Formats: sequence, C-alpha cells, structure tokens
Amino acid sequence: MKTVLTGIKPTGKPHIGNYLGAIMPALKQANSSDTRTLLFIADYHSLTSMHKAEELKAATFEVAATWLACGLDPDKVIIYRQSDIPEIFELSWILSCFTPKGFMNRAHAYKARVQENQEAGKSDLDFGVNMGLYLYPVLMSADILLFDTDTVPVGEDQVQHVEFARDIAQKINHNYKKELLKLPKASIQDSVKTIPGLDGRKMSKSYGNTIPIFETEKKLRKLIMKIVTDSLPPEAPKDPSTSTIFHLYKEFASEKEIAELKALYEKGIGWGEAKQHLFEAVNKEITPLREKYNELCENPQQVEDILQEGAKKARLIAKDKISLLRQTLGL
Ligand code: ADP
Ligand code: TRP
Repeated sequence: MKTVLTGIKPTGKPHIGNYLGAIMPALKQANSSDTRTLLFIADYHSLTSMHKAEELKAATFEVAATWLACGLDPDKVIIYRQSDIPEIFELSWILSCFTPKGFMNRAHAYKARVQENQEAGKSDLDFGVNMGLYLYPVLMSADILLFDTDTVPVGEDQVQHVEFARDIAQKINHNYKKELLKLPKASIQDSVKTIPGLDGRKMSKSYGNTIPIFETEKKLRKLIMKIVTDSLPPEAPKDPSTSTIFHLYKEFASEKEIAELKALYEKGIGWGEAKQHLFEAVNKEITPLREKYNELCENPQQVEDILQEGAKKARLIAKDKISLLRQTLGL
C-alpha cells in the first residue's frame, strides 16, 4: 500500500483559494484511492514565526475544523497535530546529525531571508533567523520519513524540502547499508488552478486579498462586494474572461448558470448584480459546510478527540520506525 502524506502549516484563516486549490482536490483523492493518507497540522513549523500562543492555538483549530467541515473522513484519513507526535522530534534530531550544515544554507526560505537582509543593508545577514527557521527542512524531512511516505503532494515552493528529505534519507541508508528510510517523491498537481483574490492577484494571505471560507453570510457578501472591477457602466457589454467575478463564479456555479451569466455579461450587467450572483453561488455551496464548521467551533472537544484518535494511529506507525532506527543506530 502506498502512503501519501502532507502537512498544512496553520498560519491564518483558510480561504477560498485554499478550498478550491488544495482542500477539495486532496479530499477527492483521499476518498477515492486505496492509499494510506496522512494529513497533519504542522503547528511546530508555524512556531518558527508565530510566537503568540492564542494565535497559534486558534489557527491550528481552524485548520483542523476546516478540513473536517469540508468532508475529511477520519476513518479514511489519519489526521493529527504534529506536536502530538514526539517521535517526529526524535527523528528530526537523528536527521540533523546526518545533514551537512551547508545543505541548510541552500534552503530557499533561509536564502530568501538572507537576501532580504542584504538588500536592507543589514550587517548581520542572519538577522531575524532563528534556528527553527534554519532547520525547517530537517523537521519537514522527519514529518515525511517517519511514515515511509511514498508521495508528498505539495505546492511548487515545497518541492526543495522533499528533495532534502530524499537526500538525507539516502545518506542514512548509505551509512548503515540498509534501506532504513523510504525515499519520498513530491507530487505537484498538474493543473493547479490559481484562484484570484479580491484585487485580481492570486488569492493569498500574504496579499491580504482573501475571502475566508467560513465567514458569516453577511461578511461573505460584504467581501464579495469588494472585488475590484473596472468602471464600465452597467449597460456596457463585459468580457467574462478577464473578470475576477466570473472566474470565481465558474468554480461554484452549474454549467447552465455559467452560460446564463456569460450571456448577461455579453448583454451588459452591472457589477453589483454580477457580484450578487457570485455571492449566491458561493453561499449555496458553503452553507452546509459552514453549518458543520460552526457546529465544530461550538464543540471543540469533538475536534480534539478526532486529532487525538489520529495521533494514536500515527504513533503506532511512528514508534515502530523509531525503535528500528534506535536499534540500527546503536542507541
Ligand atoms: P497562502 O498563499 O494564502 O499563504 P498557502 O501557501 O498556505 O496559502 O496555501 C495552502 C495551499 O492552498 C497550497 O496547496 C496552495 O497551492 C493552495 N492555494 C493557496 N492559494 C491558492 C490560490 N489562490 N489558488 C489556488 N490554490 C491556492
Ligand atoms: N512546509 C509546508 C508548508 O509550508 C508544510 C509542511 C510541514 C509539510 N511538514 C510537511 C508539507 C511535510 C508536506 C510534508 O506548506
């Protein structure tokens, strides 16, 4: 059986871009395949930059509740919180003892920070770099290697980290002349769609242009009304192919509804009216999920129980791996 594993860093409220670009495709795959799927909330990765306890706790809960509300079935997917699996940290140390320091100097996130410091004329090029950020790829390698992962679905920016995991695993296997650690492969979805945000750029927390999935109906409508448009008058024909509203509408509406809105664009439609159509389509799809999400928010223990159950399952696998490693390494 193949193992597919991925981690989500809790950094803020999940948005429509995450929902369409990552959550729904992953759930579709997890519900249909005969693979062992592990999905975890990488709270220790967030700790490299999030130093406010309440924020980290809230973000971790939001990610877990979002996946569950969107349909993750804990009987099919092992869902857990990274910090509940101490074996990850044990492996992380082992891996770091086989990782040349120079390797880490090449990590994208670290290099980007150094470059920022250089450009800002800082004399200390490591300004703002904590050891957690520096070792980020080692911890991520431990996440992956602990579970004999075959495939790691990730975005382009994380591919280098999966290669680090392969390289480190190879070094260890070579040293002990044994296939102790499985070499994982990154998988990038072919047609990863880019969902535009309120300003037309890629929807992203870092641009502050997101539509969080589980806003109240009222806030959702208000946000959709903020989508940036041009200043064409209502009666002017409009081009659906360059319209953020239409782009988003296509993701939520039926074929028939899409054709109808397209016809209205060609005839001339006011932006307010187009936005109202979009709001209705999004709200229709999200409403049952929002209800489930709100239910989970009112009953956080339910989420915690699911995470604990997941951690139990994950640790069964993890403990075996660690004991094999300890034996082989002479610990
Ligand atoms: P953000 O840019 O808001 O910080 P993340 O980098 O945390 O989002 O993305 C988490 C997942 O959601 C990734 O798999 C990423 O590919 C997907 N994703 C994020 N934004 C979008 C978007 N605008 N369109 C499609 N997929 C997205
Ligand atoms: N670093 C990933 C990100 O920022 C999150 C992550 C942590 C992860 N550990 C992982 C992803 C292991 C895949 C596998 O998105």
